[in-house]
Amino acid sequence: MLPEVTATRYVTPLREGGSLPGIVEADDLGTYVMKFSGAGQGRKTLVAEVVCGQLGRALGLRVPDLARIQLDPVIGRGEPDQEVQALLKASGGLNLAMDYLPGALGFDPLAFETDAAEAGRVVWFDALINNVDRSWRNPNLLVWHGELWLIDHGATMIWHHNWPTAATAAQRPYDASDHVLVTFAPDVAGAAAELAPRVTEELLTAVVADVPDEWLDGEPGFDGPDAVRRAYVEVLLERARGIGDRITIGERSTAAPSQAPEWVRVRLNVKGKGAK
Ligand SMILES: Nc1ncnc2c1ncn2[C@@H]1O[C@H](COP(=O)(O)OP(=O)(O)OP(=O)(O)O)[C@@H](O)[C@H]1O
Ligand SMILES: [Mg+2]
Repeated sequence: MLPEVTATRYVTPLREGGSLPGIVEADDLGTYVMKFSGAGQGRKTLVAEVVCGQLGRALGLRVPDLARIQLDPVIGRGEPDQEVQALLKASGGLNLAMDYLPGALGFDPLAFETDAAEAGRVVWFDALINNVDRSWRNPNLLVWHGELWLIDHGATMIWHHNWPTAATAAQRPYDASDHVLVTFAPDVAGAAAELAPRVTEELLTAVVADVPDEWLDGEPGFDGPDAVRRAYVEVLLERARGIGDRITIGERSTAAPSQAPEWVRVRLNVKGKGAK
């Protein structure tokens, strides 16, 4: 089970995050990034954070430690922002905390190099969990003590929004064209050979056991939290078997929200749509 702490002080909102996560202090004297159960994205975002965070760490990727965190909305009383107040009020009880990495920098592919092996592991992992949120527009990678850390796994496992089609989703390919690490020549085949055999039923069962029942309860079509956990295990197990052969790296999309600036395109050696 994930450790459980209680929030003692709301420090500040992290405005870069669309879901408005907050920095909080807790009764273990730790500082955490808190992801709120009352955020508009819903509790499946938190389930995805737990499943993918715990799985990534088990596979040797660097992911900040996770914890369950209890919130009494009263700790945000002094916070003047209405949006934050509403979020705290909607999130009383159990939420998700991630160890705060002080001084971490957002990953910038122009300022930080990684090698083909590490890039391959991250791309393969993102393919496994179908992460659409590690693009050059929004890398969701931090650099801390000179190493790469993976954060923000809320927008993964799209199949859990439509369980009846999950079996086909397990077979679906992964388009890594926009992935922030494609410029480092990711060794996807090497990563698949190394990591796929490690994604066993035992490992996945241990990973999904960390998801609190409260976030799985009442899922339509399932007979309780354990049945939902089983469904996560099945899709990820199936996906781990073949995804390495179904990762495509094509031309980067230059569609919305905006075209990458010229200096990024030069570095990536791609032409934007309509570019000469
Ligand atoms: N563990 C951490 N340590 C330090 N900073 C962090 C940590 N987690 C998140 N941050 C900072 O907070 C920002 C928002 O976090 P995160 O990306 O998880 O939120 P989100 O609401 O899911 O974001 P998005 O808008 O990408 O969906 C990150 O871009 C990063 O700058
Ligand atoms: Mg993010």
